[in-house]
Amino acid sequence: MNVYDSDRMADILSPLGYDLTDKPQSADMAILNTCHIREKASEKTFSELGVLRKMREERKKTGDGDMIIAVAGCVAQAEGEEIMKRAPFVDMVFGPQSYHKLPEMLAAASRGAGQVLDTDFPVEPKFDHLPAEAIDTKLSAFLTVQEGCDKFCAFCVVPYTRGAEFSRATDDILSEAKRMVAGGTREITLLGQNVNAYHGLRKDGKAASLAELIQMLAEIDGLERLRYTTSHPLEMTEDLCRAHRDVDILMPYLHLPVQAGSDRILEAMNRRHTGAEYRRIIEKLRSYRPDLALSGDFIVGFPGETDQDFEDTLQLVRDVNYAQAYSFKYSPRPGTPAAALEGQMIPEDVKSERLARLQALLNEQQLAFNQSFKGKEIPVLLEREGKKEGQLIGRSPYMQSVYLQSPPHRIGRVATVIIEEGNANSLRGKLKSGGVADAA
Ligand code: 5AD
Ligand code: SF4
Repeated sequence: MNVYDSDRMADILSPLGYDLTDKPQSADMAILNTCHIREKASEKTFSELGVLRKMREERKKTGDGDMIIAVAGCVAQAEGEEIMKRAPFVDMVFGPQSYHKLPEMLAAASRGAGQVLDTDFPVEPKFDHLPAEAIDTKLSAFLTVQEGCDKFCAFCVVPYTRGAEFSRATDDILSEAKRMVAGGTREITLLGQNVNAYHGLRKDGKAASLAELIQMLAEIDGLERLRYTTSHPLEMTEDLCRAHRDVDILMPYLHLPVQAGSDRILEAMNRRHTGAEYRRIIEKLRSYRPDLALSGDFIVGFPGETDQDFEDTLQLVRDVNYAQAYSFKYSPRPGTPAAALEGQMIPEDVKSERLARLQALLNEQQLAFNQSFKGKEIPVLLEREGKKEGQLIGRSPYMQSVYLQSPPHRIGRVATVIIEEGNANSLRGKLKSGGVADAA
């Protein structure tokens, strides 16, 4: 979502004459879009700010001009005051709900009005104020349809930094999607912290479910692929599960975090479902779409996690068999209920050991999944050139990166690729002759 937000910031700043640069040292303005989800991510803010400060001083010294420094995102939301104190050279600090006010904030900062702080949750959603035109259309693009979260998992800062759940109206999303497709987008990933809790207003004033929204989007001519992330097991409704069977452009890949396999820990995490319930959802999804590839998030070392609790997580992973997954050591976040469970914190070395064991199992599953494609023919969206001469990189329906040799003019097409090798993190294959149309 930060990638999507950063792109929108670029759209907002474009009419003011700002352009993206890949040389930060020559930038007139640097915006650090930050993440607060785990301590490691949020610590980076201050070290990166140190780097930017040096760049700014260098620019001033060499007479190249000044550099405005801004901190955006969830660290700004959660620690705005502290950032301004610890890093007085920062000009603007604003949260994820107020970046549409960038032009005003910029004007205030350039008037020399001192540091500008905006961490409000405005009544009117920022989406109503974002420019319609994107400065850069991507072949595979994100589209935010829902933001915020009301689930309050005991470990998570999202409900505090991104705020309450909000869904955009279907019409707004449809027009944004149509513009993207007209500009060349072939694959859209619908975004939301709790995307399957989507309940945006339809034209008739009733709420649409995510499954209905997906059906509406699937009607757009020229859109070849749809995905959505991230989902909560509790919101995997019957119509959404069925959409995986019924909507042909909905890709057979689902990121459905479970976090842990022990019912005791799931309850302490306030996840509101058991391991058995999660398994039943997976079974149902696979009955509708047998080739569905599953991905998940896991936290090891949640306060109070015993060896047996951790074994339950490993067992759940064995039962589900993931195509890929993300796993993390529990990181106490200020203000969350789990951070107050001081007596029950798990030592760092135990967390590291559990994470290594979990990741070994997940890597094994991912490799086996990738290797199972050897000899198969799959449709691949050709996205970009690779590092090697004549190489293209594309994506399989199951989210794997696919490397192959092909002329670059085929970028943007969906080609049939014969897979020759499945590796830990990617597939390698060759174009099937006649497997791609040359004319658009
Ligand atoms: N510690 C470790 N991992 C966390 N996540 C969220 N909060 C924490 C935390 N405090 C993980 C969850 C979530 C993913 C985005 O980040 O697994 O699904
Ligand atoms: Fe955080 Fe996801 Fe739980 Fe919401 S559902 S509180 S975003 S982990």
